[in-house]
Amino acid sequence: MRHATARAHTNFALVKYWGKRGTALNLPAVGSISITLDALFTRTTVTLDPNAEDDAVTLNGTPASTPDAARITRFVELMRSKAGIADRAIVVSENNFPTGAGLASSASGFAALAVATGAALGLRLTPRELSELSRRGSGSAARSIFGGFVELYKGTKDDGSDCYAEPIAPSDHWPLKVFVAVVTEGPKDTGSTSGMDASKATSPYYHPWVDTHPVDLAMMRSAIADKDFGHLTRITERSCMKMHAVMLATDPALIYWRGASIEVVHAVRTLQKQGVAATYTIDAGPQVKVITTEDDADKVRAALRDIPGVIRVMESNLGPAAVVESAGTDA
Ligand code: DP6
Repeated sequence: MRHATARAHTNFALVKYWGKRGTALNLPAVGSISITLDALFTRTTVTLDPNAEDDAVTLNGTPASTPDAARITRFVELMRSKAGIADRAIVVSENNFPTGAGLASSASGFAALAVATGAALGLRLTPRELSELSRRGSGSAARSIFGGFVELYKGTKDDGSDCYAEPIAPSDHWPLKVFVAVVTEGPKDTGSTSGMDASKATSPYYHPWVDTHPVDLAMMRSAIADKDFGHLTRITERSCMKMHAVMLATDPALIYWRGASIEVVHAVRTLQKQGVAATYTIDAGPQVKVITTEDDADKVRAALRDIPGVIRVMESNLGPAAVVESAGTDA
């Protein structure tokens, strides 16, 4: 039986993706720029079984829920049709970070699944093709194919062929430090896909969000090229808060924050007043990601530990691209 194991690292966006221009091919309405994290990753093994009747999916040691299994099987089916191979797949996937932490496991998850399935099926895919395919699983997954600083293009074509991610700069271009302040471990209320649909349908700020996006992308590209932490801070926070304004004005409101999320934001603002290089961003969940420099990492670590409501703090450097760790054929 053919099998392959792949590892993909999680990423989070500095300039956010929220909203779709097409749902069938999962085409984002806006581009996004992210950083890939070293410390948090998904490892996925795909084994092709010609004798099995159905796909089988195990996530973090337990059989996947029906909706998760359906989403994963749909993705495997897409890869199988590309390869012209009908064998069923046994998918075993593990995150090295607690799933309850509400981190973006779909980003590293679908990137690892794309790389492992592609290798097991013997498809020779370029990173760009892997990125385009991962996007079909989850938009943010397109970015986890690459390490360092990454941009996902929204593209304009209906077939999605110009909607893929590319690296902007490698991790060592600007060795930033990232902290994740975990404030609650429960599952989130509304998933990204349905949240985006609701925002597009009802939020009065949705169109201004889409229209003002290109400026943020352009400014972030230059902040990264110039290693300008002041500009990075301004655009990261602006993009995060614009996205949350869209979410909050969705009817009914999408409120992903908890009280402690806002406490972390205030703590970062206090650090900034003290001259510490630190900025925050929040995704479709309550955890707060804080970005800093190697020089100021100790001050940020100390400040985050003292905030009431912060359950734990994870730490990471910027990380590498997705890889095939092993592949082969067993009896
Ligand atoms: C808030 O990639 O999870 O994290 O494409 O519907 O799977 P789907 O959405 P997903 O959305 C990520 C949204 C975000 C911002 C971001 O990562 O850019």
